[in-house]
Amino acid sequence: MNELSKHYQFSDQHPEVTDFRADIIQGLCASPPYISAKYFYDENGSRLFEKICNTEEYYPTRTEVDIIRDNIDDIVNVLGKDCLLIEPGSGDSYKVRLLLDALRPIAYLPIDISKRYLQDEAKKLAAEFTWLKVHAICADFTGNDFSGKLALPHHVSVTNKVAFFPGSTIGNFEPEQAVKVLEEIKMMVGEQGGLLIGVDLQKDTAILNAAYNDKEGYTAQFNKNLLLRINRELGANFNPEQFQHHAFYNEQKHRIEMHLLSIIDQQVDIGNERFLFKKDQSILTEYSHKYSIELFQQLAAQAGFQRVKTWLDEKSLFSLHYFTVV
Ligand code: AVI
Repeated sequence: MNELSKHYQFSDQHPEVTDFRADIIQGLCASPPYISAKYFYDENGSRLFEKICNTEEYYPTRTEVDIIRDNIDDIVNVLGKDCLLIEPGSGDSYKVRLLLDALRPIAYLPIDISKRYLQDEAKKLAAEFTWLKVHAICADFTGNDFSGKLALPHHVSVTNKVAFFPGSTIGNFEPEQAVKVLEEIKMMVGEQGGLLIGVDLQKDTAILNAAYNDKEGYTAQFNKNLLLRINRELGANFNPEQFQHHAFYNEQKHRIEMHLLSIIDQQVDIGNERFLFKKDQSILTEYSHKYSIELFQQLAAQAGFQRVKTWLDEKSLFSLHYFTVV
């Protein structure tokens, strides 16, 4: 057994692979048409998302990192040492690195649907934090097939299980669906478990609009990358120049809405399927819900979580909450 394999394990729970073509066709046939936001993150999209996170206008990432750094001792105190740290939808391991040294969990369980990326990131962490047991799990915790079935083979007896769900990813789900995601997380952490979650806050509309319309145009590229991906993977003939990135804060629904607007009347073929888009017609690509502390607390309560503590930045742009299972 080499050094790495002593504290790195991998379980494949074989998540159902969604049918990209069927999903896209179904979304574009719907009224109004949509493309699911989960398709943003191919290689190009993930690279563009990283660029968005570094723009001047997109405050959530750096603000959340500052909140974690500024409050690390308190966070560790509240979570308790010797926890089992689970990260659903772990993606890159940047934020969890901020917690590991101070928290010293007994093990870290990243869960992601994207097998190669998950394995690469988990192995990097295991090599870097040589004292840490890393058990990567390839699964879709938001999938219909999941429902509390996640097997945590060697750690089931640990009582202090804490899920880490940063980045306000919860905001990308509509509230009803967000409750279901939180319920899944509750099943993962069990009766005495906890949840450390980052949530973007309601604020001045101008700040929100700017965050999703950065001057450098990375968010627009990120949005239009969906069309390039459909062209490449499904042999479609979208012309991204003939669509406009349109993102705005909907004050009634407390959410950013991201759309692609057809600049002209046009037709697009995806294989044998033909789609007609009228000038100004929209394709919805993403919602990003913004909460007040109270509203998010109510949402989490619907899923069976009670708030223990909330940390904010100086300007109250972003929030980090610790909840425990009721
Ligand atoms: C990943 N998610 C929390 C981002 C957000 O702010 O809703 C995705 C994003 N879309 C455009 N910019 C960033």
